[in-house]
Amino acid sequence: MAKVKSAFFCQNCGYETPKWLGKCPSCNEWNTFVEELVQKQVPQVVAFSKSVQTAKPQSLDEIVHQEHQRITLSDSELNRVLGGGLVYGSLILFGGEPGIGKSTLLLQLAVTTPNLKVLYVSGEESDQQIKMRSERIGVTNKKCFILTETSIQNIFKQAEEVQPEVLVIDSIQTLYSSQIESSPGSISQVRECTAQLLRYAKQSNVPVFLIGHITKEGSLAGPKVLEHMVDSVLQFEGDRNHVYRLLRSIKNRFGSTNELGIYEMLGTGLRQVENPSEILITNSDSSLSGISIAATMEGMRSMLIEVQALVSSAAYGTPQRSSTGFDSKRLNMLLAVMEKRCGFKLGAKDVFLNIAGGIKVDDPAIDLAVVAAVLSSNADIPIDKNIALSAEVGLSGEVRPVNRVEQRIYEAEKLGFDKIIISKYNKGIEQKNFKIELVLCSKITEVVKALFT
Ligand code: TYD
Ligand code: MG
Repeated sequence: MAKVKSAFFCQNCGYETPKWLGKCPSCNEWNTFVEELVQKQVPQVVAFSKSVQTAKPQSLDEIVHQEHQRITLSDSELNRVLGGGLVYGSLILFGGEPGIGKSTLLLQLAVTTPNLKVLYVSGEESDQQIKMRSERIGVTNKKCFILTETSIQNIFKQAEEVQPEVLVIDSIQTLYSSQIESSPGSISQVRECTAQLLRYAKQSNVPVFLIGHITKEGSLAGPKVLEHMVDSVLQFEGDRNHVYRLLRSIKNRFGSTNELGIYEMLGTGLRQVENPSEILITNSDSSLSGISIAATMEGMRSMLIEVQALVSSAAYGTPQRSSTGFDSKRLNMLLAVMEKRCGFKLGAKDVFLNIAGGIKVDDPAIDLAVVAAVLSSNADIPIDKNIALSAEVGLSGEVRPVNRVEQRIYEAEKLGFDKIIISKYNKGIEQKNFKIELVLCSKITEVVKALFT
């Protein structure tokens, strides 16, 4: 007979304790413990006993490498982020804030990949709502099956009948297993359902997508524990008020985590953006001050991004510094460097910085473009629209080299820029290899001369 007992679980990291605690000893969060009923089951070893008995240590050389079999999806951005397609039997956690477009992306995937039998399980929406969404997307697929169900046992029963090639669960927080008595969305339910889905994926070789919500703090709701269990963690991010969405891979057992997918949310679903630079640069004819173009890298992808700055006299005693899409501490540091090393008086000025398109950049190569945009706005002199910049700025005002500089230069060249300002210290860069003019600088003062005189 199964024994019922209760335990307290940290809703943040899944730490288990028999008594209530105020602070979690594992993740140091306060007030996160909730009592949940756990039904300890007699361990079932039937399914695995065979493999447990036969497993023997093997020399690494004897193990034959088998190429992972992959399904190529219709969505080339997703294929790339997954490392070249969807691996059979993989479990993928797909996280993102509510309303960002997770359900849309996966439904779109289900209906647009031809000849792929998908079972889309929704515990959040009715079949009518899903039908409406698919009508918005404007594509139908006879092989896409919708199931509105939250019981994991029933889902497996239906999956056995349908025999899908891909299973989508929207979302893991709505599922429950009758073997556990706590409510759906609680740590023990989420963990148990994920474990069962993991077993399903590995035994049936069907890839499973799990949609997971994200908390206000930006981490996957509750289950940090989930990240260990799944093969890949993808995160869908972006500003809900902007149309662009970024798909990042945070963990991937079958590929690199450097890849990035870009989508645009339209009235008819998500569109893949193949050339990100074109959308991130405004094509206005008139030159405006305070705008510069940075050649940055997002993962393995180079793109040109517009940096906008506004510098104005502070109306109150303490000047405001505000930045969107760029680390504000880094902005303060760059302002201090400009003040101290180059003598620009910015101490009594409000500085606002914005990265166009609502994206966040943490590539240090954007530093020089930030400096240029601030100086341009301060002096009210526009920067020539055909100049791109790509370099890190150091504390003594030196212009430092960045990684993969050739790729950045090629991207600027491809998009028709005339000049690119980079650090003099980048190794192995020769003008004769490029059509675009390279301007090599070692100090901010040289950059100022190149831009404004
Ligand atoms: P949704 O996929 O429901 O988000 P999530 O599952 O991550 O919570 O998408 C929500 C938003 O997307 C919704 O506010 C409306 C918008 N949307 C479009 O702009 N165009 C479309 O074609 C669709 C289907 C949704
Ligand atoms: Mg949804």
